[in-house]
Amino acid sequence: MDGELPAEPVAEVGIATEVADSPQSAVAVITEDPSIVVVDVQSDSDSAYYTGDEQSQYRESFLSSVREYRFEHGRRYHSYHSGSYQFPNDDNEQDRLDMFHHMLLLVTRDQLHLAPIKGDDLRILDVGTGTGIWAIQMGDAFPSAQIFGNDLSPIQPTWTPPNVHFLVDDVEQEWADLQPYDYIHVRYMAASIKDWPSLVKQCFDNLKPGGWVEFQDFDTTCRSQDDSIPDNYHVAEMLSLLRGACDKIERRLDPGPHLEGWVRDAGFENITHKVIPLPLGLWPKDKKMKEIGAYMMFQYTEGVEAFILSPFTRLLGWTKAQVEEFSEKVQRDAQDRRIHTVHNL
Ligand SMILES: C[S@@+](CC[C@H](N)C(=O)[O-])C[C@H]1O[C@@H](n2cnc3c(N)ncnc32)[C@H](O)[C@@H]1O
Repeated sequence: MDGELPAEPVAEVGIATEVADSPQSAVAVITEDPSIVVVDVQSDSDSAYYTGDEQSQYRESFLSSVREYRFEHGRRYHSYHSGSYQFPNDDNEQDRLDMFHHMLLLVTRDQLHLAPIKGDDLRILDVGTGTGIWAIQMGDAFPSAQIFGNDLSPIQPTWTPPNVHFLVDDVEQEWADLQPYDYIHVRYMAASIKDWPSLVKQCFDNLKPGGWVEFQDFDTTCRSQDDSIPDNYHVAEMLSLLRGACDKIERRLDPGPHLEGWVRDAGFENITHKVIPLPLGLWPKDKKMKEIGAYMMFQYTEGVEAFILSPFTRLLGWTKAQVEEFSEKVQRDAQDRRIHTVHNL
């Protein structure tokens, strides 16, 4: 989905400062007013600018704190704003996300973007970049562009094309880099975002006039064209339980059907909405659909533990053993050739 926007003024933010008059004390006045940020005038440096040492002290401590991952039931989770994202960031999960990316390239016939972006020197942002695979491929496809990918987890490779940059950021807070973009890509943020309308508005506010935003996300309702989904289908039961767990922390599992409304409400114009069916399993006759169905099946067979381990144990009170037993049922049903499930993207 994409949109074009009119010129918008940029809001300015001011910070009040107050410093002691007395030169001998050289200590900032401590004020009761919490809106006043007091200046630290004690510095060893004569330079008007922060030294590399001063900056690297904060950089190193920030980097080491965001890499202090949390481990639970044998899986690894992000530490920056810990707990806001329920799913792991370890190697197995990164493989699953890369597989998901390849599946979407099949779906879109190798198009990294559907929005009609063109031109040189573009500034492009990938919101919640994950492994960074999309951003890296965009860096190759648009050598004159600067591509930025942000995420709660610093799991992206350090060897990247020179025009690709990754940063740790929480996109539900004010964004760290406020220079406007030509194109913002927001893909597969299901169950991640608490306040979608605000995120969509942030995209609007951070685009250049005439810029584009593209959202690609899920409606995980299990549908079939031939009524082949049985009542006791564990894939549907798992998704329903997961939906309930995500509701508890106000994170929507299925943003897909709501995106067009949110985009319209944010003020975007020139909106296109596409619904793409994703089969689950090897049952489609068409060769390409069969391949997509295989990728979807692997998402469930290899990914189910990542989907539910933390939400079910933390939010629904399940034990790890219960999760394992249930996961096997989900995996079995995902491989049942008699069931012809389709999700919408
Ligand atoms: C399901 S993954 C999708 C990754 C990538 N967009 C893709 O399509 O392959 C969701 C990603 O969003 C990140 N994420 C979740 N909440 C976030 C937030 N508030 N700010 C930044 N990144 C976030 C997660 O760490 C995870 O890497």
